[in-house]
Amino acid sequence: MQDIVKELERKRQAARLGGGQRRIDTQHGKGRLTARERIELLLDEGSFEEYDMFVEHRCRDFGMEKQSIPGDGVVTGWGMVNGRLVFVFSQDFTVFGGSLSESHAAKICKIMDQAIKVGAPVVGLNDSGGARIQEGVDSLAGYAEVFQRNVLASGVVPQISLIMGPCAGGAVYSPAMTDFIFMVKDSSYMFVTGPEVVKTVTHEEVTHEELGGAVTHSTKSGVADLAFENDVAALLELRRFIDLLPASNREKPPVKPTSDPAERVEMSLDSLVPADPAKSYDMKELITKVVDEGDFFETQPDYAGNIITGFGRMAGSTVGFVANQPLVLAGCLDIASSIKAARFVRFCDCFNIPIVTFVDVPGFLPGTAQEYGGIIKHGAKLLFAFAEATVPKVTLITRKAYGGAYDVMSSKHLRGDVNYAWPSAEIAVMGPKGAVEIIFRQDRDDTAKIERRTEEYRKKFANPFAVGHRGFIDDVILPHNTRMRINRALSMLKDKQLENPWKKHGNIPL
Ligand code: HXC
Repeated sequence: MQDIVKELERKRQAARLGGGQRRIDTQHGKGRLTARERIELLLDEGSFEEYDMFVEHRCRDFGMEKQSIPGDGVVTGWGMVNGRLVFVFSQDFTVFGGSLSESHAAKICKIMDQAIKVGAPVVGLNDSGGARIQEGVDSLAGYAEVFQRNVLASGVVPQISLIMGPCAGGAVYSPAMTDFIFMVKDSSYMFVTGPEVVKTVTHEEVTHEELGGAVTHSTKSGVADLAFENDVAALLELRRFIDLLPASNREKPPVKPTSDPAERVEMSLDSLVPADPAKSYDMKELITKVVDEGDFFETQPDYAGNIITGFGRMAGSTVGFVANQPLVLAGCLDIASSIKAARFVRFCDCFNIPIVTFVDVPGFLPGTAQEYGGIIKHGAKLLFAFAEATVPKVTLITRKAYGGAYDVMSSKHLRGDVNYAWPSAEIAVMGPKGAVEIIFRQDRDDTAKIERRTEEYRKKFANPFAVGHRGFIDDVILPHNTRMRINRALSMLKDKQLENPWKKHGNIPL
């Protein structure tokens, strides 16, 4: 017995040391934490229950039979984030470069299977040289096992990837199928083919960072949701993020008690929309003035800025916000913003998170780049996402809601539950000037007549009453009462029940 206990401690010690002190020092030298240090920061102190510490690889080729490190390059298990259960795997770059072997994959699969069964999020801390080269196809099989579970877990438990080192080749596809990807600046990268292959094939010279760094993916490709300065900042923000999410699709969003009054009046909102309809304003100001304690967790803040997505709490409960941003491209919908918001709306709908939509949209962005890029199909994603969502949907039109974009942005016709407008709302097929230039084309040289007609059109449609008469909005509300009215609507909707017709799955235009 004593011998076994000693042996156990020796094995635990070996596993804790991973690839050894020299490699740990190298990891630290790169400004990165080790796999275990990351887990310690992510989870509540002392809550980590580790699995499979003694698992070793079974490769007998290329001298691997002489090198075995307990744990095999990934630390897995479960623990608590602010008292709530999460499953976690953390790849250990000090062990064979964090590369994925058959055993390494089996460890990840084990926690994913359990997370699906018990209904708790899966967090992956990725830092890996990819497939364990010595294992060949066994490693590829391991990846595919993980991919399959990513798909089965999708919509059942939240899956979050934090990329903290290399993530290349086919390995990128596991994070890609998770709900959110966070990256660490200057130390993580993701690409399907690296700079050397790119140079050979396309003759482009590009660094790792330029090709697939955190800034690239959070500003250009939209692959990553957020980029952080270092490991510590990323892990602490991840804790804050997990607090906002339900543990599974079987739960309602978590509630955090707040001292912010649900009926708080915000007088400054009365002057948020400028009198001149051509002037822009910051829609984020509306969100931060409406959410509990001004606390808004924005996703993809540096990508497709013409639409804002993110989470906040209303009267303590998590809500997803989608809002056009007049400061960027006048708040037009384009390919990138449609995809960004569609994915966000679908996440909320999977996990019972009510959606609050703020609308100020002059339409879809015109141009060959958009049409050739497939705005028809990509814009339809957002339309599809809002239309299929059955969670509570509260919509507020602050100013423009023109054309097809009016329909798309969680309108009454797409089963918006409560649809409000501010007095400054203008809901029409298009802006007054454009409309008059088309329907009174014969008068286009008569400036006075065109101006008169424009004014006439503005009076008829550039106000909330034309749709109010038809019941397409439920009320015109005063801006300073926005928080109160939305909170009341969400409270009324909290036990909403709505189901779509049975189907295997829909066919969203991908
Ligand atoms: C086995 C690996 C490894 C791998 C790294 N190591 N990657 N061992 N399989 N894939 C080992 C190294 O041999 C080294 O061992 C240690 O990890 C650290 O690696 P270094 O090269 O010293 O680190 P660094 O200079 O930081 O470079 C990191 C790296 C580089 C850029 C990731 O290691 C690299 O290019 N690795 C190969 C990447 C790759 O081609 N992977 C396969 C891609 S294909 P020692 O003992 O010296 O410390 C793929 C397909 C997935 O992943 C398909 C899924 C469907």
